Amino acid sequence: MDRVLTNLSMVTMNTDSGYRLIENAMIGIENGKIMFAGEADHYDFHGHPDIVDCQGALVTPGFIDCHTHLVFAGNRAEEFEQRLQEVPYEDIAKAGGGILSTVQATRHASEETLYDLALKRLQGLKSDGVTTVEIKSGYGLTVDDELKMLRVARRLGKLEDINVVTTLLAAHALPPEYTNDPDGYISLVCEQIIPAAAAENLADAVDVFCEGIGFSTAQCKRVFDAAIKHGLAIKGHTEQLSNLGGSALAARMGALSVDHIEYLDNEGVAALAASGTVATLLPGAFYFLRETQMPPIDQLRNLDVPMAIATDFNPGTSPIASLRTMMNMACTLFRLTPEEALGGVTRHAAKALGHGTSKGQIEIGMDADLAAWDVNHPAELSYRIGVPDLKFRVVNGHLFHA
Ligand code: NIG
Ligand code: FE
Repeated sequence: MDRVLTNLSMVTMNTDSGYRLIENAMIGIENGKIMFAGEADHYDFHGHPDIVDCQGALVTPGFIDCHTHLVFAGNRAEEFEQRLQEVPYEDIAKAGGGILSTVQATRHASEETLYDLALKRLQGLKSDGVTTVEIKSGYGLTVDDELKMLRVARRLGKLEDINVVTTLLAAHALPPEYTNDPDGYISLVCEQIIPAAAAENLADAVDVFCEGIGFSTAQCKRVFDAAIKHGLAIKGHTEQLSNLGGSALAARMGALSVDHIEYLDNEGVAALAASGTVATLLPGAFYFLRETQMPPIDQLRNLDVPMAIATDFNPGTSPIASLRTMMNMACTLFRLTPEEALGGVTRHAAKALGHGTSKGQIEIGMDADLAAWDVNHPAELSYRIGVPDLKFRVVNGHLFHA
């Protein structure tokens, strides 16, 4: 045994519902994995492990932010001002602003600059207990610029204190070079960008923006087919601003998750239930866009569709690098319970990244990714915002103080 955490309570999140709170517990770690997790008096440890007295902390699985656009240059504060003067997000996008203004800034930025900018944003997530983050490309929209973004994400993943999962989102917006030829751009994505990312092992999954201002379901299907052909997982930004049926398409093709889903209908919910696809809720974008269409929470709950929660950190619709703020918003805006919110950033977020059997729970054999909190009850994690309750994180067995 390398390390033993003592004098703690823990919520294991290793059942379909409920926290599974265990008081007076201990966690043993070896080779970056959880070797023991249970009541303290049931355990005899061998060897000379590093003993960490957690002083009564509540330990949860490390938080997982399963949807971010952490790597980009520039910001969109001016667009924020425009929107507050009643110009809609879609109109800004159609006028060449929005995503495309971030594309220009990102294309002009070096890997070094992008790395430094992302590192600062990552700091915000870490202080909320995040041990795994998903990072998407999607602001490059050329072979070189998409790969550049993914390289930066992979480089962040080499840091000892965070796990990074990368997603290629080349089908995010139509680049100006292809204004009159969206199918031509999709061909570039399928025939060049996906194969190049796969060849360099830069992407764990492929994402699309299935929307009027993004791509049609037929175009998204082409992207998914190419991803699957290259052995990559798929997921989608679907039903964010309208209902095109992208979620059902993604689910039928075996997607890990569909994200946003404010406009998802009952047929879409049934498709998710049938495929085991995770519904990822992004309350930050809902809040920031002052959306009024609620995601179909009751229907998802009734059909036992796992619900994840993520920041969607990005410059246009969710410039908020705080996963605990998202948990709070999921409760206040979407009426999730704090217990569902905690499941949304642990076990269900892990599943949304294809890591449901190795992350997101305190369970023997799983990765030793943990967060230790100065709280008495897990509901406090969703209830309070901005108070530095984190004591330390454990990432692959290594301890990092807050
Ligand atoms: O997840 N929906 C599309 N993509 C991002 C927004 C990106 C942007 O506006 O820069 C999202 O909300
Ligand atoms: Fe997004």
